[in-house]
Amino acid sequence: MDHKAYIADRLHIDGVGRQEIYASLAVPPDLTLGDYALPCFRFAKIFRKSPALIAEELAGQFQTDGVISSVSAVNGYLNFKIDRKGLARDVIGQVLGRKCAYGASDMGAGKTVCIDYSSVNIAKPFHIGHLSTTVLGGALCRIFDFLGYRAVGINHLGDYGTQFGKLICAYKHWGDREEVEKGGIHAVNDLYVRFNSEATEEMEAEAREYFRLIESGDEEATELFAWFKSLTLSYVEKIYDRLHVKFDSYLGESFYIDKIPAVVEALKAKGLLTESQGAQVVALDEFGMPPFIVLRSDGASLYATRDLAAAFYRKKTYDFDKCLYVVAYQQNLHFQQLFKVIELMGEPWAKDLVHVAYGMVSLEDGAMSTRKGKVVWLEDVLSRCVEKAKAILAEKNPDLENRDEVAEKVGVGAVIFGALYNNKIKDIVFSYDKALNFDGETSVYVQYTCARAASVLEKAASAGAKAECTDVEPNAQEFELLKAIASFPDAVKSAAENCEPSIIARFAVDAAQKFNKFYIECKIMQAETDELRSFRLALTEAALIALTNALTLLGIGVPEKM
Ligand code: ARG
Repeated sequence: MDHKAYIADRLHIDGVGRQEIYASLAVPPDLTLGDYALPCFRFAKIFRKSPALIAEELAGQFQTDGVISSVSAVNGYLNFKIDRKGLARDVIGQVLGRKCAYGASDMGAGKTVCIDYSSVNIAKPFHIGHLSTTVLGGALCRIFDFLGYRAVGINHLGDYGTQFGKLICAYKHWGDREEVEKGGIHAVNDLYVRFNSEATEEMEAEAREYFRLIESGDEEATELFAWFKSLTLSYVEKIYDRLHVKFDSYLGESFYIDKIPAVVEALKAKGLLTESQGAQVVALDEFGMPPFIVLRSDGASLYATRDLAAAFYRKKTYDFDKCLYVVAYQQNLHFQQLFKVIELMGEPWAKDLVHVAYGMVSLEDGAMSTRKGKVVWLEDVLSRCVEKAKAILAEKNPDLENRDEVAEKVGVGAVIFGALYNNKIKDIVFSYDKALNFDGETSVYVQYTCARAASVLEKAASAGAKAECTDVEPNAQEFELLKAIASFPDAVKSAAENCEPSIIARFAVDAAQKFNKFYIECKIMQAETDELRSFRLALTEAALIALTNALTLLGIGVPEKM
């Protein structure tokens, strides 16, 4: 529950809006005075009264209840105290009642959100640049789904372009079926790289011919291309499994080729198309942008054209309420142009298209970073992080039974969390050591906290102790933890509204920190009374559920033991 909203809804001050009251409510430095305080100094001018008097009058008018238990006026501040027992009953009741649905809602019922993410290119291995779009998009799919929306994950495959003619040409000259089958995507990529450095004029011409053959549906070219595509997909799907993401559609750019003429016709009909140096373009200088090129002078479509056709297709197919494009900020201009063109076409849904831009990821460890065209493959980063996690676990807990399984959750989780913890637009420098720090703002810290809570609950269960929200007045640590847990549903909502999964990642670290304070300072199994022990066990269980739900939404596994 958002207590500030609760107070703002119930506090009426003539001439002052709810929004202003909400924004003015602050957490006082001295929590013995209250949990929230409203400074009344600003209202003195309106009412021509002293702030102290205003605070006193407002205190007299405010109705206390099971949520806000007391209101007092101190030195021009109006102080509110949360009813701690009421909060405990409410939060623990909800969490234990809803379990893995705690934080879920049906606010999105009947609404569809398309999420275009990951969108890899055929024949190119997954490099670290694809990490953010994949984990951000995956998290957004789960978050929207959790809020009752229909979330449609779309992998807009880069499967069209002259480079595929080059690939076929390189394969015909230097390739070997068995070798490529064995080497998979990396072998395919090597062929392409070799073409770019060794191809002769003649081969370039051949490549253009192969591309033409793919386009015209030639049997051999089509078969080869389909093979490269399936090698790519079986490779990326392995990575998607490890990252816990999946897609509802893999329709790539090539799918839209036959839908382009209709879009071109529509542009023409609206009088938007002009010719520029032989190319067909939509002029956007009025909006401070370069022209949007629809067809090149040779009549060929572009990446942008296929995106235009794809947007119409998605609107028709899914009737989305929002369509998100989780793509790096390098493509800001592309999406601004695309959305503007759709708006100029008079489509009211242009406003529902959102470019979810994010920053770059690089590795702190220079030895592994981009070197002379040598890019960092994501599977190497994952494997290395899992290996490191394994070593750390071996040291910390040599008796851990399923160490490999736990190391996979910890290592992969650290990479995901590393990409999701900061505001998405920020550039990130990934450090293995920082990401695997058990005491840092990390997923492993949260996972370890969960394991700790689970172990308390397991011991309690075997001792026959019950977890129950008894009638206990929460102390400071319990109260802080309760408030943190209570903030989860709002964190999920605002993560969706802002397309910002970092809000959930931050929730997880904050709640884990509060749990650990509670764990260290309050005896749980050794509590003074049975009633208190039951209460603390219930609180422990609630914390575990909220943290588990948060990590799950981010795509991070939660080991039972660590
Ligand atoms: N394949 C593109 C790339 O790697 C990303 C595609 C993003 N989605 C889109 N609808 N444009 O740059």
